[in-house]
Amino acid sequence: METKLLDGKRISAEIKAELAGRSELWKRRGIQPGLAVLLVGDHPASHVYVSSKVKTCAELGYVSRKILLPADAGIDELLGEIERLNGDDAVHGILVQLPLPAGMDTEKVLQAIDPRKDVDGFHPFNVGRLCSGSPGLVPCTPAGILQMLKRSGIAIQGRRAVVLGRSNIVGKPTAMLLLQEHATVTLCHSRTRDLPAVCREADILVAAIGRTAMVTADFIRPGAVVVDVGINSLRDREEVVRLFGEESPRREEFSRKGYTLVGDVHPAEVLGRAGWFTPVPGGVGPMTIAMLMWNTAEAAARIHGLPWE
Ligand code: GUN
Repeated sequence: METKLLDGKRISAEIKAELAGRSELWKRRGIQPGLAVLLVGDHPASHVYVSSKVKTCAELGYVSRKILLPADAGIDELLGEIERLNGDDAVHGILVQLPLPAGMDTEKVLQAIDPRKDVDGFHPFNVGRLCSGSPGLVPCTPAGILQMLKRSGIAIQGRRAVVLGRSNIVGKPTAMLLLQEHATVTLCHSRTRDLPAVCREADILVAAIGRTAMVTADFIRPGAVVVDVGINSLRDREEVVRLFGEESPRREEFSRKGYTLVGDVHPAEVLGRAGWFTPVPGGVGPMTIAMLMWNTAEAAARIHGLPWE
């Protein structure tokens, strides 16, 4: 069976081009979407993510603010920054990069963000709106998955969707969005009995469990749409050979960089069995940042009373 590519790189570029066009139009009316990103501490991966968000803002003609706090900053300092940004008219989106340093109350921090500026969609107000099917800001990765499916012409209504992984960031909101699109949804996780059999029921399988190549051929119904949300850094040479073979370009990449990225889906076993798949990298990853830009524009539109479809 031919396994078609769900091309996150292409689709995210398409979305960003649309947003850049809209931002250009708004500029003539004196409106420029603004995103503030707060980062506490020196989590190395977080710095990379934050820089890439700031760079994308510049590409789309948005204003961005990067606010760095030291690892030993207290929660009151962070809450003070959020309060200030809540009242800043040039800022339409506020994102606190997670994870926060150990011991900092993440719930309390997320709840301090004005729900109208909550571009991560993590505030209980927006979580509630999503669960009740009302318009609101939707978490970026789940929103990106839906855009990928829709823009690739994949039908959702009436189909069986299985979401593997129950995180607040991906699993739960993705299940809600698929349900809203009239899929029949199963949300399963590491303690589900006979996971492969449950996943094999899926016409659309979303793997977001954070375990390298866990989804093997026996999880996949032939012809299924397989969306891989996992981003796992593989640092073991033998494992790279086991997953990609001796001759793969990944071997070369691994020798050069000392790691390669692998999803939650076994990269060789999905090919020839699924109908569609998202590669890692280049699948869901680029969609997340495009949807953050989308949410920032959507928040700006609501705040300024501009139309948003
Ligand atoms: N860290 C990893 N993923 C995310 C995300 O989607 N939002 C935030 N704020 N932090 C993250």
